[in-house]
Amino acid sequence: MHGLEPVGDADLLVGFGTSDDAGVYRLEGNMALVQTVDFITPVVDDPDQFGQIAAANALSDVYAMGGRPLTALNICCFPGEGIDRSLLAGILRGGAAKVKEAGAALVGGHTVRDPELKYGLSVTGVVDARQVVRNSTAQAGDVLLLTKPVGTGALISAYRNRRVSEATMKDAVGEMTRLNAAACRLMLEHGVHACTDITGFGVLGHTLEMAEGSAMGIRLSSSRIPYYEESLDLIRKGTGTGVTRCNLRLVEGKLRVQGMLPEELLTLLADPQTSGGLLMAVPPESADALLSALLSTGESRAAKIGEVFPAHPSVIEIIP
Ligand code: CO
Ligand code: CO
Repeated sequence: MHGLEPVGDADLLVGFGTSDDAGVYRLEGNMALVQTVDFITPVVDDPDQFGQIAAANALSDVYAMGGRPLTALNICCFPGEGIDRSLLAGILRGGAAKVKEAGAALVGGHTVRDPELKYGLSVTGVVDARQVVRNSTAQAGDVLLLTKPVGTGALISAYRNRRVSEATMKDAVGEMTRLNAAACRLMLEHGVHACTDITGFGVLGHTLEMAEGSAMGIRLSSSRIPYYEESLDLIRKGTGTGVTRCNLRLVEGKLRVQGMLPEELLTLLADPQTSGGLLMAVPPESADALLSALLSTGESRAAKIGEVFPAHPSVIEIIP
């Protein structure tokens, strides 16, 4: 998405330039629109659950900017035949339920025939132009918080081969269907400097975007990053995703590992996430208050996972 920054529009507050989560466009005064689109292939068999996950995943980019979702449009790539219509209805039902939970209105959508089923949403939100939370404005000394465990990529790929326990999958579905709405509200209340959500590029990829966008270094404490136990087991046994290796390549030459970092932990940090948590850079004096607010508001696995430091060029330092 780099290199496409439109020029000459003063009202475009956030565009392509910094690989941010959504575009932000000023309407009038301090009122700005947040716009994003995201659609995915099925991650679980249950149509209603898949619809919920896809919607939570799409809505998340509005929350990652500090915005409030207003309207959403369905994007459906559905096979024309060989599929039970009730399954498609289930997906749409799940998606609609999440949009409603987010307080937004589902206003329409579009369906095309596609042999590979995909579903997602284009979401429009509003944000106070003075409160836009970019991914590129972290400051030296900021503490990094992450709100959801990582490892859904390995879980989903093992799930397709029936090699993941029901308990872990239930846990992960609970996390993936959970909106980042409360986390968004709390980060605004605590004056975070920067935020992004952890999705396809994994912890390392999205952390690097934040580091490079902010012209800073980021130190990650590998032992503090919340994850699904079973993901690490699966990775150790060789379960991967096609994307993990690409994610590792994207951060190549930009990692500095201090001390011991087991191979499987590095792989886990590159694991692509679906409907992942918010990664926030918060001033150190507010970090404890924000963390305890998160922990007591249903973000029970939120954790401090690192810090921001001056570095040029940007680097991700990984410590035990
Ligand atoms: Co995002
Ligand atoms: Co996105």
